[in-house]
Amino acid sequence: MSNKAMMHVLPVEAYTSQEWFDREQLKIFSRTWRFAGFREDIADPGDSITVQAGLNNIFIIKGRDHRLRAFHNICRHRGTQLLRAAGKAQKVLTCPYHDWTYDLEGKLISVPDEDPEFPNLDKSCYGLKPAKVDIWRSMIFVHPDPDAGSIMEWFGDIEPFLGPHNVDELIEYPEARGSYEINANWKVVVENYIDVYHLSHLHSGTLNMYDHAKAEYQFVGPHFAFWEPLAADYLENIERNAAMPLVLPKDKLGAWVPMLFPGLGLGESESDWSIFHITPLGPELSRVETRTRVKDTSAWEFQKQQWRSSRFFEKSITGKYAGDKNSDDPMTSGDFTAEDIYACEQQQKSLRSPYFEVGPSAEAGEKPVREHQQIVKTYLDS
Ligand code: FES
Ligand SMILES: [Fe+2]
Repeated sequence: MSNKAMMHVLPVEAYTSQEWFDREQLKIFSRTWRFAGFREDIADPGDSITVQAGLNNIFIIKGRDHRLRAFHNICRHRGTQLLRAAGKAQKVLTCPYHDWTYDLEGKLISVPDEDPEFPNLDKSCYGLKPAKVDIWRSMIFVHPDPDAGSIMEWFGDIEPFLGPHNVDELIEYPEARGSYEINANWKVVVENYIDVYHLSHLHSGTLNMYDHAKAEYQFVGPHFAFWEPLAADYLENIERNAAMPLVLPKDKLGAWVPMLFPGLGLGESESDWSIFHITPLGPELSRVETRTRVKDTSAWEFQKQQWRSSRFFEKSITGKYAGDKNSDDPMTSGDFTAEDIYACEQQQKSLRSPYFEVGPSAEAGEKPVREHQQIVKTYLDS
């Protein structure tokens, strides 16, 4: 190791300024594949979901031919958004402003008062603008550019580093679906997710079933791969210790926790499979959506019991952590997510202090943090 301490790549403004935020929206989130939902969210013809991909609002709809198509959510008349949220079994898409109507394949099919208001209108020139949609490991992704490369060009190289879970066979545990805001820049949230150094410190009481010293991790293109085994003593009594029915064979137990660029974390463990989807809302505000898949319905029931006794779950309902009803301290919550949110928000608070100055960075345990910053920088410079 050199005498010179490892330093971070991005300046403080990258985490606080509107200007950085706007550039990231344009150069990162408008130019990469964006997670939109699970395959089963759009089950039947006419079902749709909308998703924000940087500057682009896009909707995905299943056609009468059962194919998924993605379109920019912009009426070709004067631009009003056609769809506001998820829709079910729509037959056609009618703009709320002047009722221009499109079919499920994006063709403009009717214009009120076409005669006499729009003489010689060639409706075939005003179909909805397409975006690109694809499915990978049961997840639907969109790209604003209809000519973008394939999803396998984007994710193919990281695939061998993901868990062996058969995602299609696991079922969603709907009560575990969560959405919350974190008062921190999206990169603070990502950096926390890929910071290996903090695991045995911030989470000393919550993630000790894993052997962090044996973690293996690296970037594969812009995506981060991470795996760690269960701790030996935990593994020895896995039947008694595991929170839920196992979804992996015994010789493959452990946790794969990749972070797919930009901002889609996966949590692929011995007993469940989940997503942790980060959306930047502002320079110092992010939303996280979580969805979890488990082995079967009996696993749901089991998990429900666990969640009922979880202090974090309790707080999401009552505003207080369970146990000590007067305590609002996430550091006693017994929940590693609450610990992470606490760390992110406390870190963000310091960034505007004139006395804040970033310190040296751990050579191995914080290498992913520096590498992610470099990837962001490369995108912004391109
Ligand atoms: S803006 Fe959509 S019909 Fe006018
Ligand atoms: Fe953490």
